[in-house]
Amino acid sequence: MNAFSQTRSGTQKWWKEAVVYQIYPRSFKDSDGDGVGDLKGIISKLDYIKSLGVDVVWLNPIYSSPNDDNGYDISDYRNIMKEFGTMLDFDLMLKGMHERGIKFVMDVVVNHSSDEHEWFKQSRNSRTNPYRNYYHWWPAEKGEPPYRFSQFDVHRNAWKYDSLTNAYYLHYFSIKQPDLNWENPQVRKEVFDMMNFWAKKGVDGFRLDAFQFACKDTTWPAFPKEDYPKDFIKYHAMVEPIHSYLKEMYADVLSKYDVMSVAEGAGRNFQDAHDLVDADRNELNLAYAFDPIDSRWAKDYSMLKMKKTFSTWDSVFENKGWLSIFLANHDNARLVSRFGNDEPQYREVSSKMLTTFLLSMRGTPFYYNGDELGMTNIRFSKIEEYKDIAALNGYKYVQSINGDTSSYMTFLKENGRDNGRTPYQWNNSVHAGFGNGNPWLSVNPNYININVESEEKDPNSCLNYFRKAIQLRKQNKVLVYGKYELIDPNNSKVYAYTRELEGKKLLIVLNFTKDKASFKTTADLIKAKVLLSNYSIASTNKELKPYEAIVFEVK
Ligand code: GLC
Repeated sequence: MNAFSQTRSGTQKWWKEAVVYQIYPRSFKDSDGDGVGDLKGIISKLDYIKSLGVDVVWLNPIYSSPNDDNGYDISDYRNIMKEFGTMLDFDLMLKGMHERGIKFVMDVVVNHSSDEHEWFKQSRNSRTNPYRNYYHWWPAEKGEPPYRFSQFDVHRNAWKYDSLTNAYYLHYFSIKQPDLNWENPQVRKEVFDMMNFWAKKGVDGFRLDAFQFACKDTTWPAFPKEDYPKDFIKYHAMVEPIHSYLKEMYADVLSKYDVMSVAEGAGRNFQDAHDLVDADRNELNLAYAFDPIDSRWAKDYSMLKMKKTFSTWDSVFENKGWLSIFLANHDNARLVSRFGNDEPQYREVSSKMLTTFLLSMRGTPFYYNGDELGMTNIRFSKIEEYKDIAALNGYKYVQSINGDTSSYMTFLKENGRDNGRTPYQWNNSVHAGFGNGNPWLSVNPNYININVESEEKDPNSCLNYFRKAIQLRKQNKVLVYGKYELIDPNNSKVYAYTRELEGKKLLIVLNFTKDKASFKTTADLIKAKVLLSNYSIASTNKELKPYEAIVFEVK
């Protein structure tokens, strides 16, 4: 048997072996004191990023944008957002990354543009404008358009009436994010040209934002008018030409460079997700599926369910696909607050446990900045403290239906996206060392204790644990390519699995609770070698301390 038969013979790829570090540029490091992170700030921290051991940096959008949705509303795809710097800064940042052996992934937001993009300005101008067809319009003389759900709209309605041409335009996100019409070949050509522009500059990959929504059923079948339709993807995304469009993208762009590509959102089911990245289909490389992370929202969330979800996804992708492994990003709460325990006595240990998980699963880890410090949710108590359009418009929506705003505030405390967007905590000086100006979003007051400077000095900090876990992954290909097998599947507290490749076998045991918890294994743990552990002495008696995590090498 070939050493890599567990994945697919001959398909070792740099992007499978990489650890991706996601940086939220607005919140990472502000170099000029305007309260907003910027590219020069990132440049000043490249040695730090390198010191983490990560291989790839993915930056959230940095293009020109009026910032209705923090850069996810792009007004010029070939320019840099003023607050973030200039194209020269971009070139220097990319060069600085490459000099350090770090690759760079660009966020490509092409389900929609900003309403301030020239294409949209033209498009709304007249019904006969050559750009009219770049977007989805519904003439008002046909009556109201068939309801479509919008995630960020105050009324949840994805159609916005525009009196200039007496027509409605479609926006699955905010009213300032009109959806591009992918059925128009000219739109696809513009997008591929733009991707080539960045690929020629030397970027190493693309993350396709909300791409599943790009292809919608434009016969506009009836859509259930529910508060938040559970299956809304089924109704307005992933429609068939999506695969032909991706094949075009592959032929026109992706096949020409050694780049990685990842689709955010993975459709309605496993088949959809797998088809996007099936190695034989020549479309994309990595699926970024929400199921595992979204399961945490469900009322019936349990460890058993989480284990089952991850294990099922792993098995579906075992042969010809590849997954991203993540539990947090800029659209979610903080890793430790959501999946661990951010009470002072458990924060560090549970954060390290989650790091162990992310770096020992099969798939490419996408690790979100700040989680390596064990940063926590800020839990704003007033709506005015939020900046995120999803939170602000969600609140207005609840008000508009006379809903319960106080339970919405409770929801935001745990799940609001701004929890994951507070400025990065560098040290315990003013504004956590983020910059001299008043930050665009409040700094979490716990920066006094949780920050890079103090964690650098502590060999047992979350930060240094993250570095160790990355090194372990690098030294052990079994953690990248090895077969994954869930063990003790009915254990409701401990997530345990093995990874196996070429006769090397690792056993990973993770206690997801604050209780002691035991697990079953046939392995002889007394003889096993402990490769990584989040306590100074690892338990070898099959009973784990609160949030204990151990990676064993077993026979
Ligand atoms: C993606 C992004 C999110 C953004 C949305 C609209 O889900 O991750 O931050 O708001 O797309 O572009």
